[in-house]
Amino acid sequence: MIEAIKGQLKVTLEKYYKDKYQQNISIVVEEPKNRELGDISIPMFAVIKTLRRPMPEIVAEAIPVIQNASNVIVSVSNVGAFINLCVDKKLLAQEILKNAIQSESTYGDSKIGLGKQITLDYSSPNIAKSFSIGHLRSTIIGNSIRLILNKCGYRTFSINYLGDWGTQFGKMIVAYKKWGNYEEIKKDPIQQLTNLYVRFHEEAAQDPSLEDEAREAFRRMELSDPEYLELWRWIREESLKESAQIYDLLGIQFDSYNGEAFYNDKMDPIVKELEEKNLLKEDQGAMIVDLGEEMPPALIKRSDGGSLYITRDLAAVFYRKKEYNFDHILYVVGNEQKLHFNQLKRVISKMGYDFADSIEHINFGLYLTDGKKMSTRKGGVVKLYDVLMRAIDLAYELVSAKNPNLENKEGIAKAVGIAAIAFGDLKNHRSLDIEFNLEQAVKFEGQTGPYLQYTGVRIASILKNKTFDVSNCNIEVFDKPHYFELVKQISLFQSTIERAAIERAPSVLAKYLLGLAQSFNKFYSLEKINTEDEQIRNSNFAVAKATRIVINEGLRLLGIQYVDEM
Ligand code: ARG
Repeated sequence: MIEAIKGQLKVTLEKYYKDKYQQNISIVVEEPKNRELGDISIPMFAVIKTLRRPMPEIVAEAIPVIQNASNVIVSVSNVGAFINLCVDKKLLAQEILKNAIQSESTYGDSKIGLGKQITLDYSSPNIAKSFSIGHLRSTIIGNSIRLILNKCGYRTFSINYLGDWGTQFGKMIVAYKKWGNYEEIKKDPIQQLTNLYVRFHEEAAQDPSLEDEAREAFRRMELSDPEYLELWRWIREESLKESAQIYDLLGIQFDSYNGEAFYNDKMDPIVKELEEKNLLKEDQGAMIVDLGEEMPPALIKRSDGGSLYITRDLAAVFYRKKEYNFDHILYVVGNEQKLHFNQLKRVISKMGYDFADSIEHINFGLYLTDGKKMSTRKGGVVKLYDVLMRAIDLAYELVSAKNPNLENKEGIAKAVGIAAIAFGDLKNHRSLDIEFNLEQAVKFEGQTGPYLQYTGVRIASILKNKTFDVSNCNIEVFDKPHYFELVKQISLFQSTIERAAIERAPSVLAKYLLGLAQSFNKFYSLEKINTEDEQIRNSNFAVAKATRIVINEGLRLLGIQYVDEM
């Protein structure tokens, strides 16, 4: 809770020295280990050193500045070069609530990212294949990290790096030319294309020459053969429609959809540079970069001259560095690509570029059902759009059972269904495999997104048509544990968001919100909120309102919509 005022003191003192002495002094505000000294302690060594004046003078000058910084400070004293102060926690609680209520959705905004740019690469499904569960995780996690970074002041740029290039397109084109039908594909693109892909593999098992044909087809694409490129473009368009449906449902947009194909004509200069820097070696007709003992070499060019996944990623990262001048670039991709990103970083660092260190693989685990990997491969297609729709249907049943008279049941069911999926994912640290159970995730109780939405709705109904004045609270109640705990959590919103941003871990925020909702529900069970005493009522309403602000904004940062009724 004290945190809420620490920042304020730091800013006030730094501004004071800047204005008065034109000095940029970094002030440290700490919580003393020995609580008998006070709640907050400010060492003045840096000021003494910079201004080169005796300690007593510095301390004497600083004390009134501190005293005036906030009305919650009740006493200021000093021991040596330390200035210690005590705050009135009840007044501070009121300040925190006032601040949250006035700030509304800007509550928790942070400046730690000001002036910095972060580029994010996420979702990135493979065209002509079904949108997989892994791509859903990437989409949900990436989107949330992006929102959290924006909240912290970072400029961001989001890229959906579509897997729209590679030998699989050679296979697809060969299969289409042999067995495909334009009209059929138009009707149900992903299913039909998947069927073609599966058939290709079945037939190629009998007749290996098909593989050669596919390589040749892809080679033609790389050489910009117009007929092949036209087919490729059409397949890309058709299959993007499925992903677009999912993004619409989740309310997600990207700044760029430049996928692997976009880099087809941007790889040569990189390969040339590798060559000039003597990093390229021939190995059985292929070109590789040796990466030493710890990891296998990076394969840059196949023996038939074809490019590879890492070749395109190299071209992409250089293009992005030039285009967006990122301070960090985040790749939200599953654990299984760990080696790929290590190789990517290593190649760039071998080329002599420092920005290799700013490449971060934001890894995540698998979705498991009954301990087994949920798969979308080998024709056994779990259509992800159907999974999302199933969540929404389930939510519709629950919402209608609970509140038959609800207007806009569809809209609410959509928000609740998506909350179930998104929160079911984000409450786990991303690096872990998660066991997902849709029936559990949609429930209004337990550690779920709908539980948070429901807590918000409960508060909305408490506050409906009520007015209150947070400046006219009974502050004595803030001493009671169930008030104190709740206000303290509210005060930790900003630092929680900052930690989530720094760790690139939305789960930090998700867990915090669960704790907050639990504290609120406890508070609600112990306290009659709309009580007769006006000042206590104001305190209660203020606590409820601030909680709702944090829940709503927190949900938004997880890519989840809040609702007013359900
Ligand atoms: N399309 C790839 C896949 O599904 C993921 C791409 C990740 N991003 C990247 N820059 N490599 O495996």
